[in-house]
Amino acid sequence: MKGIILAGGHGTRLHPITRAVSKHLLPIYDKPLVYYPITTLMLAGVREILVISTPESLPAFRRLLGDGSDWGVTFSYAAQSEPRGLAEAFLIGADFVDAQPCALALGDNVFHGAGLTGQLIEAGNLTDGAAIFTYKVHDPHRFGIVELGADGNPISIEEKPQTPKSNWAVTGLYFYDANVVDIARRVKPSARGETEITDVNADYLSRGKLRVFQLPRGTAWLDAGTTDSLLQASLYVQTLEQRQRFRIACPEEVAWRRGFIDGPQLRKLGDALNNDYGTYLASLLDSD
Ligand code: G1P
Repeated sequence: MKGIILAGGHGTRLHPITRAVSKHLLPIYDKPLVYYPITTLMLAGVREILVISTPESLPAFRRLLGDGSDWGVTFSYAAQSEPRGLAEAFLIGADFVDAQPCALALGDNVFHGAGLTGQLIEAGNLTDGAAIFTYKVHDPHRFGIVELGADGNPISIEEKPQTPKSNWAVTGLYFYDANVVDIARRVKPSARGETEITDVNADYLSRGKLRVFQLPRGTAWLDAGTTDSLLQASLYVQTLEQRQRFRIACPEEVAWRRGFIDGPQLRKLGDALNNDYGTYLASLLDSD
């Protein structure tokens, strides 16, 4: 399974903070926002990742992430000049996808919670159909909404419905089989002028090929699209990290635990950071 991180857009809801820097590079407590969806993909077993951002921001992403070899993954980069919809990620990334299964993670979505890794690994092994993750919300008109039958299987899916059929929001994490690029190519722009990922999901649903993972109530699904949600995400991560020893969404740790890198490489990464983050990486080797 390959993976795309969509980290484009102008972040206008966060202006002036995001006038000169991409939203996805802003800190969520102790690490850049984009580390969170990257580790989500890594936990799903994804090691080849395409980062899509604006032409202005791509150099900063390259500086931050490099070619991925430090973490035992590969990063490549592509530009999206204007936000024309999530499904466009698969058109921009068509060569990268190269007719293989591919996941899509929105660059500002933070997932955390017990049991999540198991679901991610299952979704990451998908070779036929699509898988989405849903989360119960109190404001369903703001999201893609999936209606579920008693057996948990999807019945309908709609983008930001005025009269939502359920409270199950579609989160910004999607797994697709090798047909996704062809399906995305057929999607027509919606009333808001965007090629909607919901239309791609609806195509899979119409063929009985859409699997829905329901995130349990103890899971956190946060986005960082507004100043309040940005701060809340930071406080959430700070609270858990200070209470426990573990850091959330630490790509170096995930790379090591998943066997993408070995102990000496983790130590090297830790030694290169002369701060608490570096000490944490080294401490993993000493305590496990
Ligand atoms: C997008 C999707 C929507 C999904 C949401 C999750 O919305 O279109 O289906 O529920 O991401 O964050 P947008 O951020 O484009 O409004």
